[in-house]
Amino acid sequence: MNQTLNFDPWVQAGLLRVEQALGNWISSSAPAGLGHSMRYAVLDGGKRLRPLLVLAAHQAVAGPPGQLNSANFEEAALRAACAVELIHAYSLVHDDMPCMDNDQLRRGKPTVHVQFGQAQALLTGDALQALAFEVLTPSDSLVSEALQARLCGLLARAAGYEGMAGGQAIDLASVGLSLDEASLRDMHRRKTGALLEASVRMGALCGAQSSAATEVHMRQYGQAIGLAFQVVDDILDVTADSATLGNTAGKDAASDKPTFVSVWGLSRSQEYARQLLEIALDSLSKSQLANTEPLRFLAEMVVNRSH
Ligand code: IPE
Ligand code: IPE
Ligand code: MG
Ligand code: MG
Ligand code: MG
Repeated sequence: MNQTLNFDPWVQAGLLRVEQALGNWISSSAPAGLGHSMRYAVLDGGKRLRPLLVLAAHQAVAGPPGQLNSANFEEAALRAACAVELIHAYSLVHDDMPCMDNDQLRRGKPTVHVQFGQAQALLTGDALQALAFEVLTPSDSLVSEALQARLCGLLARAAGYEGMAGGQAIDLASVGLSLDEASLRDMHRRKTGALLEASVRMGALCGAQSSAATEVHMRQYGQAIGLAFQVVDDILDVTADSATLGNTAGKDAASDKPTFVSVWGLSRSQEYARQLLEIALDSLSKSQLANTEPLRFLAEMVVNRSH
């Protein structure tokens, strides 16, 4: 049914808001060229899947238009959308460095360390990470302090040792090893799933209809698409070319990384991604929220994407 709906206007409107906000919040005047490399790392590229997930989850739990405080929730959701993208962009800058994946191409452009040198790339990542939390904590009263604190807590846990950084550590420690399914799932949930899950949960916090029950379903949805996202990333590394991907295809096998494809082969991995999509869609149905069509669309995009 939803295939017949056209989500282009929804996506374009979301992207426009996010691009403008990121452009405003990443200062080009940071010292010694840091502003330039930060803008290079974040602007003009990327699918912006995480920000779109934040906005879609916010929309799913938004109260009726005009409701008291809805402007604050709108502001909080936009800030959350940009904060997650800043953490994601920082993780990519560091992921591509020679000490990690040693990649030369990202989003169709030379990677940050190739363009600006390794020290600047390291600092670019550091500064983007800090900026994410600045964006979440505006000094005016646009977002309640309680909501600021909850958003910061969620993002910090997803980015740190329990989540992305922990997953990246496992990834590097697993080169040349053949992980069992449970370990592979654990690595993927942390290194990629955690930020995607956090995107959904942060968006779902920014709304009048946010409740414990909503939290449970949004969390299940976020976990399913988070894992599916990295399963598909592993598949695309094998099936897509570098021009389509915007980064180097075939890198996982060349670097001897354990992936779902290396452990299960292509067709079982593809089947698993489809199963995860079903779980995500089922969670949306169970949530009984009225406006989940954008979340449904994004889940399908995660699994059916070509890059
Ligand atoms: C790539 O993420 C890195 C992973 C976490 C697997 P995306 O495929 O979302 O990258 P962009 O943001 O669109 O460039
Ligand atoms: C990247 O995973 C995950 C993070 C940056 C946290 P990959 O190393 O598989 O991502 P790509 O394939 O380089 O985009
Ligand atoms: Mg990597
Ligand atoms: Mg990589
Ligand atoms: Mg990859």
